[in-house]
Amino acid sequence: MNWYARIAPVYDLICRPLYAKLRTAAVDALQLNANECVVEIGCGTGLNIAALSKKSRQVIAVDCTAEMLDRAPQCFDNVEYLLGDSRAIASDSADAALLCLVLNVTDDWRGVLADAKRIVKTGGRIVIADVRPASGRLKFINWLAIPIADWSGAGNHRRDIWEECDGVTVLDRGFFCVRRCEV
Ligand SMILES: C[S@@+](CC[C@H](N)C(=O)[O-])C[C@H]1O[C@@H](n2cnc3c(N)ncnc32)[C@H](O)[C@@H]1O
Repeated sequence: MNWYARIAPVYDLICRPLYAKLRTAAVDALQLNANECVVEIGCGTGLNIAALSKKSRQVIAVDCTAEMLDRAPQCFDNVEYLLGDSRAIASDSADAALLCLVLNVTDDWRGVLADAKRIVKTGGRIVIADVRPASGRLKFINWLAIPIADWSGAGNHRRDIWEECDGVTVLDRGFFCVRRCEV
């Protein structure tokens, strides 16, 4: 049983308030319109789904943990859930992709990011919203924030995802970080 299968019952309780600001910034950064299809890879319990559903024509949401996906909201007509990973989603099938709190926790983040690029049509957008260590004067908070983020499911956010994402632009600096790239 993976970590997310274990914490699924309490995930929303902790992660809904903890990442509320990050989620809003991430969905805004997607700049969706009502005719578009958006994919969320690693949708978890679906905390971004209501906002994505409201702002787009179609949402395809995939997650590899059944216990998380089982808790996702089923009340939206334009949302399709898939259990598994992003390889199940067809190429050039979406206008935008959201990777919210997933690259830091997945075993193969380069593969997931490459898959997002494959899925999103030319001219589309990918938004990465995740956690990274604070720098500069705020560095001192890492001693507390890193263990909390790891424990809460943000995973190993010392990974180099921020340095290696080609063409990804910083939109929001800070411990919680949103980046967007054009495909
Ligand atoms: C921290 S949760 C984030 C959930 C959601 N995106 C959110 O904002 O609350 C990470 C989720 O990513 C899923 N996950 C990790 N690696 C994945 C992969 N390669 N493909 C699909 N889902 C993945 C986990 O099962 C877990 O539900």
